[in-house]
Amino acid sequence: MSLLLNVDSLRKAYGQTKKEKTAVLEDVSFSLQCGEIVGLIGASGAGKSTVGRILASLEQQDAGTIWFDGCDLTDLTGKKRRVFAKDIQMIFQDPYGSLSSRMRISDLVEEPLLIQKSEKDPAKRRMRVEEALELVSLDPKKYAMRFPHELSGGERQRVGVARALVCRPKLIVCDEPTSMLDTSLRLELLVLLKKLNKQFGIAYLFITHDIALTKGFCQRLLVLYEGRIVDQGETDSVIEQPDHPFTIRLIEALKKLENSKGE
Ligand SMILES: Nc1ncnc2c1ncn2[C@@H]1O[C@H](COP(=O)(O)OP(=O)(O)O)[C@@H](O)[C@H]1O
Ligand SMILES: [Mg+2]
Repeated sequence: MSLLLNVDSLRKAYGQTKKEKTAVLEDVSFSLQCGEIVGLIGASGAGKSTVGRILASLEQQDAGTIWFDGCDLTDLTGKKRRVFAKDIQMIFQDPYGSLSSRMRISDLVEEPLLIQKSEKDPAKRRMRVEEALELVSLDPKKYAMRFPHELSGGERQRVGVARALVCRPKLIVCDEPTSMLDTSLRLELLVLLKKLNKQFGIAYLFITHDIALTKGFCQRLLVLYEGRIVDQGETDSVIEQPDHPFTIRLIEALKKLENSKGE
């Protein structure tokens, strides 16, 4: 195993003035190995998406260090940071809201390559787009010229995966990618993500507030609570022997939910 990502003492507060500022991340530290699937769980509003957005360079941390794949991203900002962090991509929760409705599927999947300027040859770019669509089981002949509204929710989410894949990333931050899908599509997406993990060794930081989803998918879990990682370890051991009162509560709530479904 080799280290892919190390986040140390990450801090982030929101608010315009000093008085208004509220800390979301107080002190977040964790690491991720190459090809590892790690779940980040926590209640709604805990700051999970903030962690994801900082890693995907969509936002800047206030303090703390980020080391990724041999490169210190900490002091890099804006465009420069995005170039160095191009191997970190993100998949979003809302497969509709995250895709521009006026762009065709082929253009949507090509867009990250244009932003990154990593492939200058248009013919090669087209091939990369087709390859990414095929990897998510969307036949380019059938889907490339369609618009997002001509796709089902599950298909749109797969376009989101293709957009991340086209850059050939080493890490994908998956921000609750299944929360707007129904149960069978959820499973389908997890199977797809697992296949891509095996095929390309892509690591995932899998953000969710649904602990049940992490079983059998995530190798490790990180529990975010009040701006800190309060519990972490192998998925089964965090679920079976939670250390922190918050994790215990979360798991109890889940068990109650499971029991009520069985009745
Ligand atoms: N751009 C922003 N400006 C101000 N507050 C924000 C912003 N983004 C998130 N927050 C606040 O930070 C907290 C954590 O948000 P978020 O990271 O989205 O949590 P989670 O993904 O765990 O639900 C929430 O209280 C949210 O309202
Ligand atoms: Mg969120």
